[in-house]
Order: sequence, then structure tokens, then C-alpha cells
Amino acid sequence: MPAQKFSRKYVTRHKKSHQLWRRAARFMPGGVQSNIRFFRPHPFVADYGDGAYIYDVDGNKILDFMMGFGSLFLGHNNRDIALEVIKQLESGSMLSVTTELDIAYVETIQKAIPSMKKVRLANSGTEATMHSLRTARSYTGKDKIAKAEGAYHGGQDYALHNLDMDSRAVRKEGNYRPIPYGRGIPKKVSETVVIYPYNDIEGTAQVLEENADEVGALIVEPVLCGAGVIAPKNNYLKKLRQLTRKMGIVLIFDEVLTGFRLAYGGAQEYYNIRPDMTCFGKIAGGGFPLAGFGGEKQIMDVLEPGKGWRNLTYHGGTYNGHPISVAAGLKALQILGEHPEYYNHVNSLGRQLFGGLQDLADDRRLPAWVEYVGSIGNVYFTTKDEIRGFRDTFSANTKRWWNWFIHCLGNNVLFGIPNTGERAFISAVHTEEDVEWALEVADNGFAAVAKQVKRQRERAPPVKLQALQQQAAAYGETSAPPSV
Ligand SMILES: Cc1ncc(COP(=O)(O)O)c(C=O)c1O
Repeated sequence: MPAQKFSRKYVTRHKKSHQLWRRAARFMPGGVQSNIRFFRPHPFVADYGDGAYIYDVDGNKILDFMMGFGSLFLGHNNRDIALEVIKQLESGSMLSVTTELDIAYVETIQKAIPSMKKVRLANSGTEATMHSLRTARSYTGKDKIAKAEGAYHGGQDYALHNLDMDSRAVRKEGNYRPIPYGRGIPKKVSETVVIYPYNDIEGTAQVLEENADEVGALIVEPVLCGAGVIAPKNNYLKKLRQLTRKMGIVLIFDEVLTGFRLAYGGAQEYYNIRPDMTCFGKIAGGGFPLAGFGGEKQIMDVLEPGKGWRNLTYHGGTYNGHPISVAAGLKALQILGEHPEYYNHVNSLGRQLFGGLQDLADDRRLPAWVEYVGSIGNVYFTTKDEIRGFRDTFSANTKRWWNWFIHCLGNNVLFGIPNTGERAFISAVHTEEDVEWALEVADNGFAAVAKQVKRQRERAPPVKLQALQQQAAAYGETSAPPSV
């Protein structure tokens, strides 16, 4: 089946979206507000969201597993959060001084994640990671930061290294050289970034030892999600904790995605590890722009004002602690604190959905590996039966993924962020029935991809196979090379 066939239904069902997107593209690069939101043949335009569904301008009701890039753990348009926001609107939307709400919010955060002895708020995960890195550099007096290959920590220059690349770039650049993601990142910034291999503790130790005198902070996504979903294996996080402590490096858990998702206390509760600093965002804002960072008192104290410009460490922002976002975030955290059963619910749906996807792909004899942790998961179209590290993701067939994804979206199931190597999120408002339907749609998608793979195999010229077999024989191999 040609690639366009997979998107035919999507195109037919999104005519108005197409018109609006073309209008948007005249004034907005790609017709979108973030590079990640662009996809081919064109993005759709939303009308409103409710519960687990997005309703678009063409009247489609789309089952959503993107859920506000993972921020909508309590669903679209949560009534209780909306009421808090309306209440706060009547008391002023922008006060620019500390409010009781701020204090209650930070107390709630601190109670949920006790490693954060002190906390500062920001407006996005990007700001939170950027400020946490500066704080750690100031505390240690060391200029370099270490980040994992494949990890995403937002759109700031330090973090935008070694992600979403291909195997050729890695071969060309050699082992763990900092490679800026796209243009516009100064070389001088890249020189302050050290890249380490997630899930490979010996490799990580080697990189850190080579740079021990210069690395002030190591930032990690506890579950590596910049490359889809990769769970920590063989106590990697515990060993990373020991290593950074021994070397005097501040360990920062970027919990923008895992915070309040894997557990109320985030990945650090789930894996029982205490980092020195933590970044949070997404769910913590209840669907509104709110994030923050915090950590041990002696580290956060570098942000104490009143030391004079030479000695201070700067953190600021006009909208920090914005009352509307804080009201929404506080309500979200209160709801989650009162409903621990939501975590059992999303994790059980995670097993149903992601375990189900693996079974269906296996039944269709489609080489795929579905990696998931709790309510976050990703389908890799790969022959590998484990994805351990970023470089394993190079084996995934991105064309197959895209064909499957757009086929499902044409049938009104949005299987996560529309970008290969991204992931799907389950929320507390999804139901078993939603997941059953999603699996039905996914299976049709798998069937279509399997059919395409079969046709491609049949069409593969036997001459080539023969040549490969002869080549293998010449090298003295006993078995023939694989035919696909
Ligand atoms: C782990 C992680 N860190 C940081 C960010 C950046 O957050 P934001 O998009 O709010 O700036 C993201 C966003 O997806 C993320 O997943």
C-alpha cells in the first residue's frame, strides 16, 4: 500500500482543518506554535476538548492519548479545576507579589516530593531545567553540565544536544560528542555540555570521570522519554545516584513528564531515589502553564536575594507563580492527593493498552517492541526485543510507525504526540472501553502495515536475495542473511 493510502481517511476527514492550517501557515512557521506540533500531511485544528476526547473543527471526535503533551492527567476541561480558575479570575489574574495560594501550592509540592526542601516556580519545563542547571553550576562552581544522549529537557540551548538524531550522525561524530540539535546553538555552549549514555552505567562513569573536575550538574529524565519511552534498567538510577554523590555532581531529576504521573511523588517515589534537585511541570499545572524546580536547602539557597549583583544567582520571570496557573495546579494536586486510586487506574489501563498493542503486533507477526512504564508508552517498529538505550531506537522503522499512526488518526484515535520517537499518555479519565476501542483501531492499523510489509517482501527481487546468499557463502556464513 503506498504511503498516501494510510493518510487517505485522515485527509478526507480533515478538510476544514486543512483550510485553516493553510491560513495559519501564511503567518506562522509551519502553521503551528511549536515545531513538534507539525506533521504531514497537515495538522488538524481543534475546536474543544472534553474528558479523554478532542473535538476538531471538522466535527471529528478524537480519542486523545496525547493529552496536552502529558499535562492533562485529569482530562480535558476538568470541571473542578475550571471552577478554581474562574474563582481566581475574580480575585485578579496577575498580582506579581506572593499570594497565600503560592505558599499553599509550594507546601503541597514539598509534601508530595520531600527531596525539594525549597522550591521556585517557573512557567514552563524549559525554564525549570534552565534555572535548575544554573543554580547547580553556581552551587558547585563548575561550568559544565551532563545530559543523556536522547534526553529532552526543553528548548533551551544547553539541553538541545544529542537528541532525535540518526545512526549516521553518531558514527560520524564518534562517541558522545555534544552535537547541537539544529542550528543557532553557539559552539561555546556545546563546549559546556557533556553527553552520557543512559542505562549504561560503565559508559556514564567513564564520561563523568573524564570530565569530573568540570561537571557541576547531571540532569536525567528518570524514564528516558526524549527517545520515546525507555525504562531505567539494572538499577541504573540508583547507581547514577551513587556515582554523582561520589563525584560531587548535583543530580537533577527532570520530572517534568514523570512528576505526579508515575506516582504522586513522581519517579523518585516510584524508584525510591532521592535526587539533589528536581524539575517539575506539566501535570503540576493542571493544564495551565506552570512549572518549577527545587532541591536541597543548601543548593537552593544560592538563589537567596540580597547578596549584591556579583554574588547572586539569578532566577526571575514576570509570570512566575501566576495566580491562575497556581490555582489550577493546586486544585489538580489536591485532587491527585485525595485519589491515590487514580494511579492504579492509569497503570492498569497502561497494561491493557500497551500490553495489548504488543500482543496485537505479535499476532500480526509485525516486528515491534512496545516499551512502557505505567501510563506512558511507545511502539517501536523494530526487530529488537528490548530497547535499552537511545541508540537502540535507531533500529525502529519510522515509516512503518508513521503509516500506522496516521491510519489510526484517520480513524479518530490519536496515539500520542504526532512525531516518531514520541509517546502516548493515559489519563485518569480514560476508560477500559476507550482502550478496547483504541486497540481495535490499532489492530486495523497493524494489519494494514503488515500487509504492506508482506507485499514489499514479495516484491523484493529474488536476484538480490540470491546475491546476498552467495555473498554470505563467500564469507563462510552457514545461515543465509535475513530476507527483509
Ligand atoms: C522531560 C521534559 N523536560 C522538559 C520539558 C520542557 O517542558 P516545556 O515544554 O513545558 O517547556 C519537557 C517537555 O515535553 C519534558 O518532557
